[in-house]
Amino acid sequence: MQTDASVADADYAMRNWRGERLGRIRVGSDAHKQLFCRMLLDTHNPYKPAVMVWPELSPDALQRITSLPIWDIAVQTEGRAQLRVQAYANTVSDPLLREALVMDGGEEARHKVVLSKLVEAYGIRLEPEPAYHLPKDPEWAWLVTGYSECVDSFFGFGLFEAAKRTGYFPPELVETFEPVMQEEARHILFFVNWIGWYRRQLSWWQRLVFEFKVARVWAFLIWERIGIARGLDNNGEMQDANFTLTGHEQIGIDLTLSELLDMCLAEDRRRTDGYDKRLLRPTLMPRLARIARRFIR
Ligand SMILES: [Fe+2]
Ligand SMILES: [Fe+2]
Repeated sequence: MQTDASVADADYAMRNWRGERLGRIRVGSDAHKQLFCRMLLDTHNPYKPAVMVWPELSPDALQRITSLPIWDIAVQTEGRAQLRVQAYANTVSDPLLREALVMDGGEEARHKVVLSKLVEAYGIRLEPEPAYHLPKDPEWAWLVTGYSECVDSFFGFGLFEAAKRTGYFPPELVETFEPVMQEEARHILFFVNWIGWYRRQLSWWQRLVFEFKVARVWAFLIWERIGIARGLDNNGEMQDANFTLTGHEQIGIDLTLSELLDMCLAEDRRRTDGYDKRLLRPTLMPRLARIARRFIR
């Protein structure tokens, strides 16, 4: 049985973490690997989706939540992420890194359970799920998942905060969902550190091959989002993936794009602030947002 105090402790522990070892840590070193793997493992919040309480919602809150066009894509994204991370974990022989990746994949699986509980609690109707296929190139799949999370979480954090501040999401629901959002912050932190570390394990020619793969991953992600923005149905999948970009309009939150970007930037900082300062931080999305911010009033 989880008491209030143990829940609060677990919540604090998942957001605030320092590595045991003191001093400078070189990116790519064994100490760096220890640091980002331990961060993920030590900050795991052991909440159980089965005992989560889904607050009773007022009729209009219920209507707002059930009519959001995000539930199918959310469930499918988590299902795919779990499979992709797990597939990559299976290729890794380093015990600590593998343990951390298995935890990452396990948390994705738990997100899917949380979402299915929510869907069930509020009577949201879902499309039948497509079959999930094991990726042919697990490293590619892991890169796609990692970079997708960097993009989607950045907007997701801002939108979640906006939905909270405007009361679009009732406070009880915000509270229930909060650990899931924080888990995504840990995942992107883990991912950007893994990339930084992994690059330094490669010889010059392996590095070349890897950077080419990263470029192809980005091309794929951009193509996926453009295709979806045009309304093309990508094999019946991902039809809501541009939600991150147009989400504030879809959920009817009265917010300018610049306000939303500011909120994304602030939330991105807040959510990753409590972890060891020696860990690399995600920089691409904040940088792009700051550039965009100069042109948008
Ligand atoms: Fe997730
Ligand atoms: Fe994740």
